[in-house]
Parts: sequence; structure tokens; C-alpha cells
Amino acid sequence: MNEIATPRPNNLDAFWMPFTANRTYKAAPRLLARAEGMHYYTTDGREILDGTAGLWCVNAGHGRREITEAVQKQAAVMDFAPTFQMGHPIAFQAAAKVAELTPAGLDRVFFTNSGSESADTALKIALAYHRARGEAGRVRLIGRERGYHGVGFGGMSVGGIGNNRKQFGALLPAVDHLPHTHAPEKNAFSRGQPGWGAHFADALENLVALHGAETIAAVIVEPLAGSTGVLLPPQGYLERLRAICDKYGFLLIFDEVITGFGRLGTAFGAERFGVTPDIITMAKGLTNAAVPMGAVAVKDDIYHAIVDGAPAGIELFHGYTYSGHPLACAAAIAAIDLHRAEDLPGRARAMEPAFEDAAHALKGLPNVIDIRSLGLVAGIELAPRPGKPTDRAVGVFHRCFDAGVLIRTTGDIIALSPPLIIEKPHIARLFGTLAEAIRAEAA
Ligand SMILES: Cc1ncc(COP(=O)(O)O)c(C=O)c1O
Repeated sequence: MNEIATPRPNNLDAFWMPFTANRTYKAAPRLLARAEGMHYYTTDGREILDGTAGLWCVNAGHGRREITEAVQKQAAVMDFAPTFQMGHPIAFQAAAKVAELTPAGLDRVFFTNSGSESADTALKIALAYHRARGEAGRVRLIGRERGYHGVGFGGMSVGGIGNNRKQFGALLPAVDHLPHTHAPEKNAFSRGQPGWGAHFADALENLVALHGAETIAAVIVEPLAGSTGVLLPPQGYLERLRAICDKYGFLLIFDEVITGFGRLGTAFGAERFGVTPDIITMAKGLTNAAVPMGAVAVKDDIYHAIVDGAPAGIELFHGYTYSGHPLACAAAIAAIDLHRAEDLPGRARAMEPAFEDAAHALKGLPNVIDIRSLGLVAGIELAPRPGKPTDRAVGVFHRCFDAGVLIRTTGDIIALSPPLIIEKPHIARLFGTLAEAIRAEAA
């Protein structure tokens, strides 16, 4: 179907676009009008294969009727109701659904509206937990270089992407960072989790020596770092982080905003890696991105420490007007039902070998200096053009888009994260187009 669903806007001025080179984009806009299954359709009717599940979020594919209908139905029944000192059944049902997918024991679910809000909520819960247990001195939050936890002040502070921080002042004071785990000199072109680098976790011991364990509340990492360019955890790394956190009583937070809901072939990355954190943050695939929603799942004892330990009245002074929004809850329930009915993690697992082979077949193309993949995520790192970082990858992005394929770039790294309903012909088209673009960009 190629008809034009939405006219091109006459004026692009008013919308200040997020994380976008506004001037360049508005000079040559790319406008998407419609989406279905594995594809977007542009305002001029071109079909674009979605190699990025939107922004790592449309895991069940676009335009899923089950989700659309659930949201439409809920909108007609009750558009909004507060969850401050009030409730509505669908919010409790949605939380219970999420808890069915999270690792055993992480059964208490706090709703937010985004990944950024989930990260900040998790950090606040960690601080409140230690305070409730009489350890109010545990105020330090440990993130990781190259980590991405959204754009709130908490997430930015523990995050480790320089460009996301440097415009915004001093950020939170009591924060430190682990080193990132990217070591292409040892691990380039490894398939799955690289073998070298578990010792990067030992840097947490250095931070203990520097700050004192009694000042540290929590460690937050993405089990697989996506936005920074697909950095995989070395074998044994997450296990070691878990052990050090246990040794000193730090809460371990996994930011699973992109690794949740089947992306790595399991409901959450925690399951794939066999390491259970104390808190999981999520968003994106939770509603298949049909309605904005995030959530934070915590271990029962964290919930009990804060809730049972508080004097009568409100136990946690935190929440959003739209926490548990009825339309988002309807979308989440329908998306999780789809996730299960269609076994989306199983589909991701089944496609992983073909996806991995296709990604690694790019080895040897000009300027490809590393390829890494796990589940249905792949990172292809290009050598930057001398003196012009990001230029080469942006060129590849434009060539792919012109040829009908949507990819994502960060720096000179191409990140692929297609909907989990991808099939082999899509894989061939995605990587075939990408290979052509990489070759053409080298010419
Ligand atoms: C790991 C991680 N955390 C947090 C976020 C922020 O999510 P949002 O853009 O919904 O605020 C993202 C977004 O890509 C993410 O990948």
C-alpha cells in the first residue's frame, strides 16, 4: 500500500526536534507517514524497512491491531484517572502482567512514562531504600562511562556520554563511574559476549576504596549498552558486578529500557545473562511504543523496606500524573499478551543465528573496524573520516534511507535493532542495503 497517509507539513519551524541536527534536517526532511509490520511509509509513499524498531521499541512490529484496539476501547471507557490516592483496575492488572515477565522476586512495579523517568525513579528508590533501613549515608550513585540512562538529571549524572552532559552544568554531585567495557583491541569481531574483560567490574572495588562502601547506594548499568553503540558485557563481567554489589550491600540496577521485552531472546537481559539485579528499569517495548510508558520493577524486600518502614501516610514521595495512565496500561497489557502469544523472545532466538551471520558477513568491507551482536542487536563500527567524526556513518544512514532501509547511527557506529518479527528476507535486505551503502560511502 503506497497511498499518502499524511500530507507534508507546510512549516517545519515550530517543532524543536530532540537529539536532531535541526538545521540540517529541516533543509532536507525525511517524513514518515504510516507504519505496518516491518515497514514505514514516507509521506511520498516510499516503503522503508525498519531496521531499528523505531527507536528500539516496536518489538512486535508496527500497527498491531490488538494493541490499537485495546487503546481505542480503553479511551472510550475511561480516558484518565489519577493514581495518587486513587486507583483503577487496569493499572493493577498491567503491573501484575509486567511482574509475570520480570525475574522471580522482582514483583513490585512502579509506573513512569519513559526510560528517563524510569532511571530517575530507580535511583530515587535506591536512595529511599537505604534511608529506610537506617543507612542514610549511602547517597552515592555509580554509573558507567558510555552508559545511557536517559536525559533526566539523575540519568544524565550516572550516564557516561560526554555530549549528553556537557551543556548542562554540574549535574548530581555524589556520582562516580565505572570504566566502559569496550575493548576492540582484544575483542573485535567476537560473536556474542566477548571473552576478555570481566576484570572491568573490579573497578568497583577501586571506587569502594576511594569513597567508602558506606557512602554507596547503587550501581546502574545497561546489561548490554545500546545507545552508546552496542557494547556487550564481557563474559563473567555482570556476575562479578553482582558479587561485588552483594559484598558491600549496593543495589544493582539493570537499565533494560532496550534489552527488555524480548530483544535478547529472553523477556529481560537479566535472564539471558543469568544475573538478577535488584531493580530493573524498562520502557519502550513495554507498550510496543504505542503509548508512552515506562516502569521500574523492584525486589519485594526493597518495596517492604520502604513501605512497611514508613510512618503512616505516603511512603514514597514520588510519582507522575500519568503513572499508570489507563491508555498506557491498556497498551502494555495488549503488548505483553502479544509478546507471550507470539513468543517474541523465541522468535528473536530463532532469528539470532541468521542475523549474527549477516552482521558478521560485513567484515572485510571498507572501513568496518568491528562488528558485535547479541540477540537481535548488532553494532557495526566504522573508522571515522579523518577530522570528521560521525560523517561517514551519517553518509551510510542517508544512503540506506534513500534505498529504503532505516538504520541508526551513534558516532561512527551503526546500530541495528529490528522488530522481533523480522524474517530472513528482511535480514537479507537490511544487510544487503547496508553493505552497498558502506561500499558506496568508501568510494
Ligand atoms: C538504556 C536506556 N535508558 C534510558 C533511555 C531513555 O528512554 P526515554 O527516551 O524513553 O526517556 C534509553 C533510550 O534509548 C535507553 O536506551
